[in-house]
Amino acid sequence: MYEPQARVQTRARVERPAPGELVRTTVGGNPVAVWNVEGRLYALGDICPHRGFVLSEGALMEEKDGTISVVCQGHFWRFDLTTGQAAFRPECVKVYDIEDIEDIEDIEDVEDIEEQAGGAAMVWVVDRDLEQRGA
Ligand code: FES
Repeated sequence: MYEPQARVQTRARVERPAPGELVRTTVGGNPVAVWNVEGRLYALGDICPHRGFVLSEGALMEEKDGTISVVCQGHFWRFDLTTGQAAFRPECVKVYDIEDIEDIEDIEDVEDIEEQAGGAAMVWVVDRDLEQRGA
C-alpha cells in the first residue's frame, strides 16, 4: 500500500532576535540557534558534536582574528559562528541560511505573518542542503 511520506521541514520562521539576543528553533527536526551579534544574524546547529551539550547555552567570544565563536559549556570547544568550524578540531556544526521575510513577493503575506507575530520582524532560518535535495 502506498503511504505518502511527510515533507521534511526545510525552513522555520522565527522572530528576529534583538542585538545581543538569540532565539531557538528547529529545522528538519534539528535544533538551531540564531544569534544577533551587533545586527548581524548567525544560525548554527544547536547541539555540540562532542557530547551533545546545547551550544546556545554557552557564551559568545571574539577570537583574536575578530571572528565570533560560541563556547560550548560542556568542555569549552569553540565554534565559529560563520563557518560552524571548531577551533583546533576537525568537527563542525551545520550553518543555516537566514532570509528576510520581506523577500516574500506578496507584501500582504508579510503583513499577515508579522501581524500574527504581534508586529515583530520575522526571518526564515533555512536548511539549504535539504531544500536543494527537494525535501
Ligand atoms: S559537549 Fe561540547 S565541548 Fe564537550
